[in-house]
Amino acid sequence: MTTDSPKTYAIKNYGCQMNVYDGERMAEMFAAQGMTETNDRNAADLVVLNTCHIREKAAEKVYSEIGRLRRKDGADPIIAVAGCVAQAEGGEISRRAPEVNIVVGPQAYHKLPEMVAAVARGERSVDLDLPGLDKFAVLPKRRKTGAMAFLTVQEGCDKFCTYCVVPYTRGAEISRPFAELINEAKALVDAGAKEITLLGQNVNAWEADGQDLGTLIRALDRIDGLARIRYMTSHPNDMTDGLIAAHGDVEKLMPFLHLPVQSGSDRILKAMNRSHTRDSYLRIIERVRAVRPDIALSGDFIVGFPGESDADFEDTLSIVRDAGYAMAYSFKYSPRPGTPAATMDNQIANEVADDRLQRLQTLLVDQQTAFNATTLGRTTDILLEREGKLLGQLIGKSPWLQSVHVVAPGLNIGDIVTVDITETGPMSLKGEMLMKVAA
Ligand code: SAH
Ligand code: SF4
Ligand code: F3S
Repeated sequence: MTTDSPKTYAIKNYGCQMNVYDGERMAEMFAAQGMTETNDRNAADLVVLNTCHIREKAAEKVYSEIGRLRRKDGADPIIAVAGCVAQAEGGEISRRAPEVNIVVGPQAYHKLPEMVAAVARGERSVDLDLPGLDKFAVLPKRRKTGAMAFLTVQEGCDKFCTYCVVPYTRGAEISRPFAELINEAKALVDAGAKEITLLGQNVNAWEADGQDLGTLIRALDRIDGLARIRYMTSHPNDMTDGLIAAHGDVEKLMPFLHLPVQSGSDRILKAMNRSHTRDSYLRIIERVRAVRPDIALSGDFIVGFPGESDADFEDTLSIVRDAGYAMAYSFKYSPRPGTPAATMDNQIANEVADDRLQRLQTLLVDQQTAFNATTLGRTTDILLEREGKLLGQLIGKSPWLQSVHVVAPGLNIGDIVTVDITETGPMSLKGEMLMKVAA
């Protein structure tokens, strides 16, 4: 096949915020080449599926989406599969879905323009190198952002939890240099960002020249115009003293901590190769709460890991009660090809895992509802991020990452406003506007 060079592109992101960040960088690169973005995947000349391999369902979505991209008139787009399914399945994708023209891993997407040119010449193009940080030197400067921006500071994972594909799809832990990150943060603020969320598969493993994430956060704190800093996802073993201290004295660092524990049973944590225990996790939470008592805790949980007994699952329910979560993500264990857990004995029956997931989620929703209720009557700042369904309604985020609905004339996305919290529910809150803090 030879085609004209594509003029329009569409990017569909699956999975975590790291993919959202990568998708934004791809878009900036295509824009720099004079291409135009379209939201209509059925009209775009180039479609990038930026994929996730974390659970079976996530990976399967890609193949059904590829099928849907076929066009009746035969004018099929150039299809690029990027992200973690590309890295994990590689050439297999081209065999299963011959209409895919490009397969590109999460650390090689800066080569997309030349790969697209190769396809236009009639070639198929595959690049699954994991060169680390090469892409950042090539990608264009940040010029476009929403009020809430993502900034990847760290890539990859060395932890090798026995259920997880990330160490294979994203490669080894590697940190971007300090000065480069400060420059990117400043460019984002110049382009309109009020809040920056630092991203990494293990974001708190970031370190450069002996500095830890706490030091980076303190440096970002000094950027004028940046109002809020967040980070995710963190690992219990990388919660340094410096990072915990930053929660106590950096005002821009929002009172929110996403710290996955996965299970409350030491036996299961060991089989997962989590390298922390139930108690060591709870002690970290205690230390963070000592310096920032109002911190909202968030977590990830897996139920139905191989060998998980009723007693192990009860331990997970009890760590949820002991730690107290403001919000959390919980998943049914999904065996992933190539991971040690996939071939462990005692895989758990689906119905048992379903039942456990339901019980855990009921408890987590109760906790989330209770946490939200603690903010009733409070006066707090929210950063407006999108329009609501009602006329004149905007939705913003509280410091604790809750969605707050507010109706008030003259407000814009990106404004920070002070509100009274007048109503709370399980998923969101309502606020009454008091005054505008920053526009
Ligand atoms: N680096 C982060 C999270 C990475 S993946 C951490 O270690 O906490 C996001 C979440 O997906 C994980 O926290 C875990 O809860 C879930 N997950 C990962 N692999 C999974 C699998 N095979 N089955 C079900 N859930 C999984
Ligand atoms: Fe996966 Fe564990 Fe690494 Fe998180 S720490 S990305 S769960 S291997
Ligand atoms: Fe998925 Fe890859 Fe993120 S597997 S969760 S997109 S790191």
